[in-house]
Amino acid sequence: MLKNLILSVLFILTSLPLFAGEGMWLPFLLSQLNEKEMQSMGMKMSAEDIYSVNKGSLKDAIVHFGGGCTGEIISSTGLLLTNHHCGYSQIQQHSSLENNYVDNGFWSKSMKEELSNPGLTATFIISMADVTNDILKGITGQTTPSEKQSIIDKNIEALSKTYPRQAYQDILIKAFYKGNQYYLFVTETYKDVRLVAAPPASIGNFGVDTDNWVWPRHTCDFSLFRIYANKDNQPAEYSPDNIPFIPRHFLPISLDGIKEGDFTMVFGFPGTTNEYLPSESIRQITDLGDPVKVAIRTTALEIMHKYMIVDEATKIKYVTKAARISNGWKKWQGEMEGLKKTKAYEKKQLYEAEYNQRLNADPALKAKYGGILEALNENTLLSNKYVKIREYSIELLRANIEILRNYARLDAIVNAYEKNGATEAGKKVDALKSWAPGFFKDYVRNIDEEIFTALFKMYFENIEPPFHFSRLNVLAPLDAGFADRVHLLFDGSPLASQSQLDNLLNRNTEDIVNAIQNDGLFLFYKEMLDLYTAEIAPNVTKYDNLISEGMEKYMAAQLEVFKDKRFYPDANSTLRITYGNVNGYSPRDAVQYENQTWLEGVMEKYIPGNYEFDLPQKLIDLYNKKDYGQYAENGRIPVCFIASNHTTGGNSGSPAIDAYGNLIGLNFDRVWEGTMSDYNYDASICRNIMVDIRYVLFILDKYGDCGHLVKEMKLVHPKADVKPTQVTPKKTPKKSVPSKKH
Ligand code: ARG
Ligand code: GLU
Repeated sequence: MLKNLILSVLFILTSLPLFAGEGMWLPFLLSQLNEKEMQSMGMKMSAEDIYSVNKGSLKDAIVHFGGGCTGEIISSTGLLLTNHHCGYSQIQQHSSLENNYVDNGFWSKSMKEELSNPGLTATFIISMADVTNDILKGITGQTTPSEKQSIIDKNIEALSKTYPRQAYQDILIKAFYKGNQYYLFVTETYKDVRLVAAPPASIGNFGVDTDNWVWPRHTCDFSLFRIYANKDNQPAEYSPDNIPFIPRHFLPISLDGIKEGDFTMVFGFPGTTNEYLPSESIRQITDLGDPVKVAIRTTALEIMHKYMIVDEATKIKYVTKAARISNGWKKWQGEMEGLKKTKAYEKKQLYEAEYNQRLNADPALKAKYGGILEALNENTLLSNKYVKIREYSIELLRANIEILRNYARLDAIVNAYEKNGATEAGKKVDALKSWAPGFFKDYVRNIDEEIFTALFKMYFENIEPPFHFSRLNVLAPLDAGFADRVHLLFDGSPLASQSQLDNLLNRNTEDIVNAIQNDGLFLFYKEMLDLYTAEIAPNVTKYDNLISEGMEKYMAAQLEVFKDKRFYPDANSTLRITYGNVNGYSPRDAVQYENQTWLEGVMEKYIPGNYEFDLPQKLIDLYNKKDYGQYAENGRIPVCFIASNHTTGGNSGSPAIDAYGNLIGLNFDRVWEGTMSDYNYDASICRNIMVDIRYVLFILDKYGDCGHLVKEMKLVHPKADVKPTQVTPKKTPKKSVPSKKH
């Protein structure tokens, strides 16, 4: 009976296609792998409309924005839409007390007012190809892992040089399926990307940390840029002579909105996922990695918030720091809970049982892959020993304690002096001098000191004695004197205040180096770092390597053992498509979430004067007057919506696209309960969060008085018009790029 049940679960697990919504697919393989399913889910386009090398297609409207986010082109004049949090550092850099664009928003009234951003890039993907054979050429069963990597590096270098491209194009080659396949991308990177418009943070980041990762959501997370090109429409450094870029394709914008079940797809550059891990890796995440990181950050955040709540000036100094710490903190909590709730470990074990059964039934497969999965789980269990100390080291040295994070700067001076002498060290000193005022402007020593004290108390209590370095032992008997000894350490540190730093930097370089080497906190930092480098890192690296070599083989094995299944490669910051349906969800018993939020909900959350939920008066006035123009649906302004698209970090700013290829929303987050989709997508609770494009246009037009920008766009009504609004005509899909295996 039980056996039958298990067998039938196994059957369901392995014979069904992946869950609706799961997968981050390669645009150039859509016609083979996804087109039919997408159409059955409601899509009215062909794969060729989405990705084509022969004509303008949707992919020509998508850019990798600043290397970390996604953006899309929404006019024939190079307008680029992305998230507020993706354009935030540009908005901030242009802000001053007189022109506070963070607080007040930025609304250019003509192209002359658009602001240039040195260093900011937008990269288009021109074409893609499978180059696995070229890259793995020369590798045999006898090649050792290190030889293998050097052969691969050489092959990548050689092919990058010889592959046909224009002078203004680049070649990018990346590993997929854990190194079992390699794909090449021809790219064009534009370097003159100007800020056009951004809402005030109270609208663009409404809800700040409390609402981050949360549904129902009410944030208008957008900013608007424009790409400029040289007179040949090609990439060029910033120049006043550059002209607005003319895209091969731009996204028309649908004003018709969404309803439950509508087809949606998200097109963008997801960063990292790990969907094919063995079961023990899942347990390592839920039982070891995530809880340790969450506990450390809970302590740090409690201390920050304690001071932020009582003092406005402190709050301003710590808002972005707290946001950075809290983003991961909240995501990991959802991830842990979600993995447990959806029984990810048990699911992986069932999957592994099926894998083993198939492997054992086929002598050839068994000869090739036998033992690989066992070794992988075994090595993962062995690596458990180093997870806690690794996370503690990273979180304490690099994330939560400001003063320690910045000791790397002093270390750099000492290193430069020892390696290259006083002149080079002097350059590092100058760098430190110019960095310092910005740092101390927002630094509150007693907060940092309290976090330092609390976290090293945790370290002392939770980390085994072999990892207690001697200066920690001197500092840390956890008696009443502990905090006093930390206080003295800070008193002596050149990084505890601007004046203490000035005392250090007033000397000649030799004396500076000498003083750093005698600073007690520097010695403490170095001991901890040296311990990590000598005792921990080698083990961490050893197991990382064993596991990644094992994963390469296990991935190859999965592809062969489950030939009947479609596999999508893990995210690796390359262009992908994910598709799903607009869909509410039930996060827990008796709770059912709808798929759309409204401006009424923004007003419900409004708390005057609160740093997360305050609103500008002008928005309240527009709401009271119901001055909504063409952007309302039945007299209300739609704000955000959710769907079952499989997204991750890097998909921020990605377009949400309807069945016809029109823009309907802007992706910016996922729901907290479903952040485990990076390891285990589950259609029951994994949802991506998008701001409704009508809210974006309403804010741009009515709040920012930028009707002239809306005029540049192409607004459409696909649901009213019977005819599809796809700009490019449909053709039968042509196989544009040779591809193999799938
Ligand atoms: N959670 C989103 C992401 O991972 C948004 C982060 C920015 N917003 C914030 N309130 N911290 O990037
Ligand atoms: N906010 C994320 C980003 O910046 C997207 C949310 C997610 O992780 O899905 O890419």
